Amino acid sequence: MRQKIVAGNWKMNKTLEEGNILASEISGMVNDEVRNDAKIIFCVPSPYLLPIKNVLGNNSRIVVGAQNCSEHESGAYTGEISAPMLKSMNILYVILGHSERRQYFGEDNKLLAKKTDVVLKHGLTPIFCCGEPLEIRETNGHEKLVTTQVEEGLFHLDEATIQKVVIAYEPVWAIGTGKTASAQQAQDMHKVIRNHIAGKYGQAVADKIPILYGGSVNAGNAKELFACPDVDGGLVGGASLKSREFTDVIKGA
Ligand code: PGA
Repeated sequence: MRQKIVAGNWKMNKTLEEGNILASEISGMVNDEVRNDAKIIFCVPSPYLLPIKNVLGNNSRIVVGAQNCSEHESGAYTGEISAPMLKSMNILYVILGHSERRQYFGEDNKLLAKKTDVVLKHGLTPIFCCGEPLEIRETNGHEKLVTTQVEEGLFHLDEATIQKVVIAYEPVWAIGTGKTASAQQAQDMHKVIRNHIAGKYGQAVADKIPILYGGSVNAGNAKELFACPDVDGGLVGGASLKSREFTDVIKGA
């Protein structure tokens, strides 16, 4: 059985003080209320990585992750942060290829394959995002587009290494729109992704890889989404910014 993962993606939100309060509130609620064994990750803005880690202290239920990192290991890349830097701060998860990075920062599958390599080389876990925009869904191209994203981003990895990846399927039309994919739509796409991995690496490998759903997950829909056999938890944006709501999302895992 795959362990459920609930990752909050704070994106570019909250001041440090607000972030500290949020993290500390959720940490307390998780200790008091959450009875499942889901892994919880807060993917916070880079300057908050260590402060939030500090706030969480010895709460072993929650880890801190990054939202992006460079494909380069070091050097003259002003404004970037590298995988070795994250590792040196004991930050072990990083989101790669979020649709906002693809859309606003021109990240493509080729670049994401490089980022995946550098992240894995340094012992971090990439949360590799894929997902189709609305017009592709409407013309029924979503399976092809998403399997191509997974193939071009990850299929150069060998059998042992791909098992270290977490995938997040996030249909772009559901991100921040309040329009969630139905549990059936999510399950169908997760199955397509898992079958595609099985086609290349075999079913046993495919069965080990966590595939998270993202796109307007909230306290009201999390339980149903996370109950789907191929949905192993969620990557949660808006709802991760409210302590009560996010704790209730975690409880759905
Ligand atoms: P949302 O964002 O939950 O606000 O839709 C999800 C994401 O972009 O990771």
